Parts: sequence; C-alpha cells; structure tokens
Amino acid sequence: MACHRIKYTNNFGDGVMRYIKLKKDYIEKFISIDEISNLADELLQAHNTLHNQKGLCSNGAEWVDYPINVSNEEIERITNLAEKIQKKEALIVIGIGGSYLGARAAIEALTHTFYNNLGKNKLGFPEIYFAGCNIDPKYLLDLMDVIRVKDVMVNVISKSGTTFETLLAFRHIKEALYNKYGQEEANSRIVVTTGNKGILRDFANKNKLSSLSISDNISGRYSVLSPVGLLPIAVAGINIEKVLLGAKAEAQLTRKFDISNPSYQYAAIRYLLYKSGKKIEVMSYYQDRLKFLAEWYKQLFAESEGKNNKGLFPTSLLFTTDLHSLGQLLQSGDKVFFQTTLVIKENERLTISAEQDDLGSLNYLANKSYNDIIHCVQKGVIKAHYEGDSPNLIIQLDKLNSYSLGRLFYFYMKACALSSLLLDLNPFNQPGVEKYKREIKNNLLELCAEEE
Ligand code: PA5
Repeated sequence: MACHRIKYTNNFGDGVMRYIKLKKDYIEKFISIDEISNLADELLQAHNTLHNQKGLCSNGAEWVDYPINVSNEEIERITNLAEKIQKKEALIVIGIGGSYLGARAAIEALTHTFYNNLGKNKLGFPEIYFAGCNIDPKYLLDLMDVIRVKDVMVNVISKSGTTFETLLAFRHIKEALYNKYGQEEANSRIVVTTGNKGILRDFANKNKLSSLSISDNISGRYSVLSPVGLLPIAVAGINIEKVLLGAKAEAQLTRKFDISNPSYQYAAIRYLLYKSGKKIEVMSYYQDRLKFLAEWYKQLFAESEGKNNKGLFPTSLLFTTDLHSLGQLLQSGDKVFFQTTLVIKENERLTISAEQDDLGSLNYLANKSYNDIIHCVQKGVIKAHYEGDSPNLIIQLDKLNSYSLGRLFYFYMKACALSSLLLDLNPFNQPGVEKYKREIKNNLLELCAEEE
C-alpha cells in the first residue's frame, strides 16, 4: 500500500500556549522544520504502535492510559497505606532502577531539601531512606543503625520479585525488623509492591502482608505513576491525585496524534540529532532538587534506547555546579553531544540585599531575585554553547509542583517510547540487563561451588 506522506508546513504550534514548552531557537542551525515534518509518517506509526499496544509495544505499554484509567479504589488503597506509614518515624523503601528512581525523583523535587534532617514534627511526614539501590555494605550497616533507633516501616518494591539487590537488602532489613519487633509485629510493618505472581507475591500472601500490585503490562522504568512510585510519594505528603491529574492531562493531550505536540517534537528532534552524528544527550538543569529526576530520565532513556547498537547516551549536568567542571568541554570540546536544558521559570523567592561592606561588589544586584539570576545565567550559557556550535533544546515548565511534575513524568515517558520506536526498538524490554543479571547469578553460584 502506498504510504500517504503527511506534510506539515506550519511552525508546529509554537504560537500555541503549551503547558510544557519545547523551545527550538537554539537548534535551528542544526535541524530544519522540514526535516521534522518529514518524520510525520514514522511518528504516526510509532504513535499507533504505542497506543494500540501492538508489535514492539505488545508488552509494557499499559502506563500510557494508566492516569486516565486508574480507579478511585486504587488511589484510596495507596492513600490508606500511606497514612498508616505516616504514623511512623521512618520509611525504608527497598528497590532499584524503575522500582526506585521515580519515587525518589518526586520526593526530592517536591519536598524539603533536607527532608531527613528536620523531623516529622516540622515536615509532617516520616524520614525516608532508600535501600537495595546499591550493594555497598556500609550503606546497609548504617541503615541498620537507623532501624535500631527509629520507629520504622518498610516498602519493598520489585515488579519481578527476583531482583538480586532488592531481595538481598530485604533479607537484612527483614531480619532487623524481626529481631526488633518480633515476627508478627514486623510483618505488620512491611508493605510489598510487586507483580501478581512471583516469590515476593507468595511471601506477601503467606505472611498476610499489606501489598499493592503492579500490572505485568507496565514496564519497570515507566512505572513511577503506578503503585510503584505512588506509595512512597504519598508517604512524603505529596498529593498523588494532583500528580495523576497532571499526567492525565498530558495523556489526554497526546491521545490523538498531533506532530506539533512537544513530546512528539522532542522525540523527532532527538532522533534527527542522533542521525546527524550526535551521540550524547546532556540534560542540564539548575535546581539541586532535580538531581534524581535527572537520574530517572537517564535510566528511562538508556534502558529504552540502548539496544541493537543504537541509542543516544543520556547524561545530565547540574548547573551552575558542573559549569565549573564540565562547562569547558561543553563549550569547546568534541561536538558529539547536544543539550536539553530543563528550565523551571518560577523559582522560590529569594532576593539579594545590599550590604555596607559590598563584599565582592555585588550590591549592583540588590533587590534582584534568584529567579532573575538563574534566567541570566541560562541565557548566557545557552547562547555561548550555541555559538560554540552545540545544539540546545529547551524544555520549559512555569513552575514545579505535584501537578506539573505529573505532566513532566508523562511527557518524558511519551517522548522516550516514541523516540525508541523511531529507532525501531522495543522501548519496554532490557535484554542487556537480563544478560548481566544472568552472568552475576552464574558467578555467585560458581563462588559458592568453589567454597564447597
Ligand atoms: O526498567 C526496568 O525494567 C528495570 O530498571 C527494573 O525496574 C529494575 O531492574 C528493577 O526490577 P524489579 O522491579 O523487577 O525489581
């Protein structure tokens, strides 16, 4: 059948007011509107594959409509469990990869920077610790000290129920809970988030533990807006209904194919830059609290696209911190990368005042806010990098809150799935990860056989 080529000659809705804006001024000399419009058919095909959950998306795509379909009962179940956990002093979240990064990203982005230092009385929610996300024994031993002195609950999260790091950390933490509280009381302090079957599910059933289910059809790294991410996020006092409302708005906006939609444009531009020889995407951002959003973004794109010898290498830089280390390379180094700057337009209000000593001659900035300063720095950095022949896309949000973060999570997931499909890749599997998991298992078995 002849392929009907859709032609878009407008400016992709750049004049339309968008909640998440994709600014393309600083990629103009690298990518043309025509090149983007020429991708319309491929993007439409990707959109259909994703939304019909067919072909490369036949397993893992249920997250696409989850924010629209999630039931009130599911939200209530999560909220009730969160309220139970909130009565304690501390929550330990055990998980890794997609079963960890999204929740941490939201908690760090939306709560107090020093959320584990100020206490529950001040912040209104328990301290939150993460485990199972490394195999550092000191980390676990130090966490045992926390368990010894705090009134804790645990949320162990693993879709497969077989992940080595998660199960290993759970083993130690469970033992510590059993020793401290006795088995029955300890079991009442464990919430399991896992698939409908598997060893963690069996363990939860056998011990009558509180639990939440992850659908088999939601890929791990796309699960932040499912019970995987929502329970720890709710414990941190973040309104999960607002997060889901933001995601729902983005889901509804992109349900019908529209190439002018920013997540579609982002997918297309990443693809074109990759084809033009860019091998690295640098997500740059200016808010310290977005460090884990950047970690989440890296995992999302890397595990989705890094297959069949393809894929942009996603990395991230916190500005201005990293301008004092890697900025020089970005400005004048090998042109193998492009930047995507995440701009939050309205930041917290902090104003500079004049002082008598005028140390550093900064009085000329009196009455200026950090918002103004961040904007000046951003403009300067982007212009300098662009003039140094480095493309720079901008993703802009007016402000960061539970609603906008819900939108942003969904925006990235949609763009990532489409971008993977443009490369003819399954966005939801991770054969490489499965392979090294098998290799590790073999080595561990060998280690034990040697000792026998
Ligand atoms: O995106 C993925 O599928 C992975 O990163 C998983 O989330 C990670 O390996 C953890 O898997 P599980 O939730 O099965 O423990």
